[in-house]
Amino acid sequence: MRVLVTGGAGYIGSLAVWRLLALGHTVSVVDNLANGSLAAVQSAEDLAGRAADFVQADIRDTDLLIRLLRDVQPQAVLHFAGLKSVAESVALPLRYYDHNVQGSLSLLRAMQETAVRRIIFSSSATVYGQAARAPFAETSPIEPVNPYGRSKWMVEMMLRDFCAADPAFSAVALRYFNPVGAHPSGRLGEWVAGAPNNLLPYIIGVVQERFERVRIFGDDYPTPDGSGVRDYIHVLDLVEGHCAALQVGPGFSVYNLGTGIGYSVHEVIRAMQVACERAIPHEVVERRSGDVAISIADPARARHDLGWQAQYDLMAMCRDAWRFAEQHPNGYGRVAAGAS
Ligand SMILES: NC(=O)c1ccc[n+]([C@@H]2O[C@H](COP(=O)([O-])OP(=O)(O)OC[C@H]3O[C@@H](n4cnc5c(N)ncnc54)[C@H](O)[C@@H]3O)[C@@H](O)[C@H]2O)c1
Repeated sequence: MRVLVTGGAGYIGSLAVWRLLALGHTVSVVDNLANGSLAAVQSAEDLAGRAADFVQADIRDTDLLIRLLRDVQPQAVLHFAGLKSVAESVALPLRYYDHNVQGSLSLLRAMQETAVRRIIFSSSATVYGQAARAPFAETSPIEPVNPYGRSKWMVEMMLRDFCAADPAFSAVALRYFNPVGAHPSGRLGEWVAGAPNNLLPYIIGVVQERFERVRIFGDDYPTPDGSGVRDYIHVLDLVEGHCAALQVGPGFSVYNLGTGIGYSVHEVIRAMQVACERAIPHEVVERRSGDVAISIADPARARHDLGWQAQYDLMAMCRDAWRFAEQHPNGYGRVAAGAS
């Protein structure tokens, strides 16, 4: 297949680029490099032993996307490009609606103009918000509690409406739970500049002595050890979910991508301590507003329709994440953007 990957220089996108190339697909990447790195694309190419085309551009530039889609003529678009910090979305909501909603609208316009009729969209479990009871099925109540989650929900609704208007169009929204881990070689993974919102990158920051200690937000939740429980999914499993979703027929579909297993904050800290072979300082602080006690996927629909099931456990996630972190103590570094 010819596949266009938006946001392919980012964490999950670069692993998807690697996997698509390794499977023999022809891959083009568009990324504005705001939070991504050319070095990630390069590593994906090295690991796969094949090259992708790279275009540095913003997906909000519809005319450029139209030219790119005409040129590439992809059979599918994997749409990862977007901003992902919940905290930043609360402080800068318009920035999130601009990149995530306006960016997706621009992409859909360009796809309509060039008759590209298949998209796989990176949605998020944050759309479930506080109204749902874990495990969350795709039919669970939707009530995102922050602008980031709302931006994902808006794009899902846009895709649903667009599919209703064009029966030949296929849109799959994949609701990721908590993607973690890295390529087992340690060459592709996640690095967050500044203070990460997510637990695992924060723990790694503590191990690397960028932060003093892990803050556990509340230990009085109705969970076995009182800390919040989340469904962590290895990024390799996530990428396989995208490959499986490439086969979905026309219409709008939505799938949870999670393991169905929850781990508490204490359990994740213990697993990381084993992975990196050192003690990780931590302290319990006040609950964080907007956090739910338990967020776990019901992955039955993806298993049934896509034949997809997560394979990796928490230890593999921690070991792979740590291997990448050890090899990239400062991330990929900023690579000069000289691509065409
Ligand atoms: N990582 C997670 O925890 C998580 C969870 C649920 C959903 N998601 C979604 O998955 C997608 C990928 O996440 P990630 O963790 O790889 O994030 P990331 O920040 O590592 O990658 C996103 C990429 O998109 C690019 N980008 C952002 N805005 C752009 C624009 N307007 N035009 C072109 N490129 C743009 C960035 O430069 C970056 O390379 C995002 O849409 C995110 O919201 C991520």
